[in-house]
Amino acid sequence: MSVLITGGAGYIGAHIVRLLVDRGDRVVVVDDLSSGDASRLSGATLVRIDLAGDGARERLGSAIRDHGVTSVVHLAARKNAAESVTDPAGYYRDNVGGLAAVIGACADTGVRRLVFSSSAAVYGTPAVPRVDEAAPTQPINPYGESKLVGEWLVRDAATAHGIDAISLRYFNVAGAGWPDLGDPFPLNLITIAIDRVRRGLAPSVFGADFDTPDGTGVRDYVHVMDLAEAHLAALDALASRQQADSPAGAQVFNVGTGEGASVLEVLDRLRAASGIRFEVQVGPRRPGDPAAVVADPAMIAQQLGWRATRTLDDMVSSAWQAERPEPTASLA
Ligand code: WQD
Repeated sequence: MSVLITGGAGYIGAHIVRLLVDRGDRVVVVDDLSSGDASRLSGATLVRIDLAGDGARERLGSAIRDHGVTSVVHLAARKNAAESVTDPAGYYRDNVGGLAAVIGACADTGVRRLVFSSSAAVYGTPAVPRVDEAAPTQPINPYGESKLVGEWLVRDAATAHGIDAISLRYFNVAGAGWPDLGDPFPLNLITIAIDRVRRGLAPSVFGADFDTPDGTGVRDYVHVMDLAEAHLAALDALASRQQADSPAGAQVFNVGTGEGASVLEVLDRLRAASGIRFEVQVGPRRPGDPAAVVADPAMIAQQLGWRATRTLDDMVSSAWQAERPEPTASLA
């Protein structure tokens, strides 16, 4: 199989690239390297394209033809929910515009298999703590909106161009499959907490008055290796469907463990992994933060045969042990 991965030089993409290269697939990475790291990509071909830029559709089509690409995984996107509130146009341009270029290139070249990186952010603040794919999609920021619009565009592409697609709604991704593939940006709980602990600072707890067992926010943390394996399961399912001449569709799956963990539980795992008995500082809630968002992952297990196998301890300890750039001024 020859797979093109946009955003493949990023934290999640690099894990998917390495798994595909290790199993013998030909891999082409399309990335603008605005946040990706080319040194992660041994064994893959890198093509630098800004997917929201002029001529991106045509350049992408050339890369697909030049490398005999049969499947595309589209990860390239901006994903900072807080940043999206201050730059909605930039998020729609990059996240929806970039996807439009990918779909156009697939239509132009006859590529009929697409895996799209979506997000649990499409659920916004769910009315129930555990969500399946039929739960209402009510995103509360432009990042989540851009992912939901992306799912609609993928669905329309199935109808218009016969592109058979799977959208994966990522829950809270964490950990590292290899020490050199840690998440370099402290933008989420575990990476922010590690960055602060390494600088001798107390991690912050955003709210301890939620209606949860210990009062802190509950999320569904999924190991980046499990998430990467979900992409391979999706690619293989699409390949089988094309071989069976199945009609193009647009399936959507939650990618999570189905288990929730609170902020305090995660930080306690970090004390164990680091051996540092750090204190925490409890502050106010973040505006819009839901108390709990946990996946019901029954559909992906049933349809793709994928289940998460790695634990919260695996995530926190691998994140702690991963090679990281020098601690930065935390962005939190
Ligand atoms: C997790 C919990 C915070 C930092 C993200 C993004 C996006 C999406 C879903 C892929 C919350 C608390 C955090 C800190 C804290 N995934 N927290 N102190 O908000 O669930 O959403 O995951 O698209 O990546 O939307 O992730 O890591 O910011 O927060 O107490 O310093 O940790 O309040 O309860 P979130 P997060």
